[in-house]
Amino acid sequence: MFTAWTEALKNGHQIIDTFKLSIKQIIQPFVAVKGGLIPALHKVQKEFGFLNKESIKTLAKSFNISDAEVIDVITYYDDFKLEKQGEYIIKVCQAEACQSLGCRELWDTLRSHFQLEQDGTSKDYSVTLKEVFCLGNCALSPSVMINKDVIGRANSQKILAYLSTKQNNSKND
Ligand code: FES
Repeated sequence: MFTAWTEALKNGHQIIDTFKLSIKQIIQPFVAVKGGLIPALHKVQKEFGFLNKESIKTLAKSFNISDAEVIDVITYYDDFKLEKQGEYIIKVCQAEACQSLGCRELWDTLRSHFQLEQDGTSKDYSVTLKEVFCLGNCALSPSVMINKDVIGRANSQKILAYLSTKQNNSKND
């Protein structure tokens, strides 16, 4: 992930042109295809990690629609991101079953640990913290989802230990 973005950064003042060119190349196979916008958005996000202003403009121009139409699609689907996200997306369930078993306290502890005012992304982009409403794991409340893994009977020690193991494993890969 982020390979094209890293390449673009190396080019200093040519960054925007390089970025636009990269996006055009990435989305080119989808432009003439009916319903090609969604796969094009997925492809750009996979490459750059999120969909920024320049990518929205380039997509709009290529698909011959307005920037607002592209933004409408992005904001309709929860999977698309307008800002760079952390490496680990931590979703803390705030629905009833989890609330009765301490998810608010867990939320506050994680927020304070990662020095976040509210939900959002840590300064080092290691984590993004989000509130969600039911992860379908109510029997094991409180529940947290980190990227694709659901953690039941969650507490801050369990979450931090999970992250530490993942980070150590990725260092050793
Ligand atoms: S209420 Fe939290 S997982 Fe369902």
